Formats: sequence, structure tokens, C-alpha cells
Amino acid sequence: MIIAIDGYSSCGKSTVAKALAKKLSLSYIDSGAMYRAVTLFFLRNNIPIPLPEELDHFSYDYPNALNKIHISFKVNPQTRLSEIYLNDKNVEEEIRTMHVSENVSHVSAIKEVRRRMVALQQMMSRLGNLVMDGRDIGTTVFPMADIKIFMQANEEVRAQRRFKELQLKGTKVTIDEVRANLKSRDKEDSSRSKVR
Ligand code: DC
Repeated sequence: MIIAIDGYSSCGKSTVAKALAKKLSLSYIDSGAMYRAVTLFFLRNNIPIPLPEELDHFSYDYPNALNKIHISFKVNPQTRLSEIYLNDKNVEEEIRTMHVSENVSHVSAIKEVRRRMVALQQMMSRLGNLVMDGRDIGTTVFPMADIKIFMQANEEVRAQRRFKELQLKGTKVTIDEVRANLKSRDKEDSSRSKVR
């Protein structure tokens, strides 16, 4: 069984996905975390990240860079939640920093990145039943999902959710910075053309 949960950032998709996965004993895959892990790798390795206006004319060997990335999920036995690993290192914390948040929309607009992530997500579904959340899961990744959920939440509620999350982690950030980041990512994520 595949359950797909779509919606913008910080709507509560992952909270619902984790609860469903626990209740129904399914694996949980956070697709946003995968794009964040690729972004972290690009930032750490100084791989150029095109701005939206540069995207059409940008030339870089992204397939080669992506070949150096291995993404996997493992269940933390203490929390019983799945956590993301980048080249076998747990990066669950690092991928949630503002620096990654500020770059992830640009990275996820790169067509080679999207193609690779969509293929990986589809492959993961062959390993068993799962709940996956993201913004194109029910439309592009699993159009034939058994259950599709689309989540929405008010902009201010989303900003407050993300702000609280970051504060709990000790990240120094203002609510205005969080609002601005969500707004710009909404704009970029929804205006990006679909990659097949
Ligand atoms: O849900 P999130 O904020 O962790 O997602 C991070 C970014 O990843 C988001 O700004 C857009 C991108 N993303 C995507 O393009 N496709 C997905 N299925 C999930 C996330």
C-alpha cells in the first residue's frame, strides 16, 4: 500500500505521515528531507546552485555530482522514527538549518536532481508499503497511490510551526526570516516547471 501526502512546507504533512505510518506499521519517507540532503551535499562540496533566472542556461555535470550521493533512511530505535542518512552519515539535524532551507528550492528546481529523486522514491516503494510526503508525491511520484491526501494550512500557522521547530533545535532565527523563507519557497516551488 502507498499513501501519498502532498502540500506546502510546514502544513503538518510529516506529523500526519508519521502518525499514519506508526498506526498502520508502514515505512515513512520524508521526500523533502531527500531534497534537503542533496542541498547539504551541494553546499558542502561547493557545487554550483543556479538561481531561478539562470536555470535554463546553466551548464554543470549534475549527474556526476549526484552519483556521489547515497541517500538512505534508517529507523532510530529510540524514537522509532525514520531518519535520513547522506553517504551513511545521519544528517537529520543538518538538513533543517536555515542555510539549507534558503537553498533547497533552487536545488530542487534542477531537473537532473528531480529526476534522480523521483526515481529513487519510486524505487523505495518497491521495497514495501509506505507513507511518503512531499509536494508532488500524489501527482508525479505515485499518481496511482492507494490513498492521496492534500494538506493545507494558513500561512501564519505554517510560519509559527516552523519557527517553533527551529527554536526547539536552538537555531537562531526570527519569525520574519521564517515567514520570508516560506513565502519565497512557496513561490519557487509552485512556479517551477514539472520534470518527467
Ligand atoms: O517539506 P520540506 O520543507 O522539508 O521540503 C524542502 C524543499 O524540498 C521544498 O522547499 C521543495 C522541495 N521538495 C520538492 O521539490 N519535492 C518534494 N516532493 C518534496 C520537497
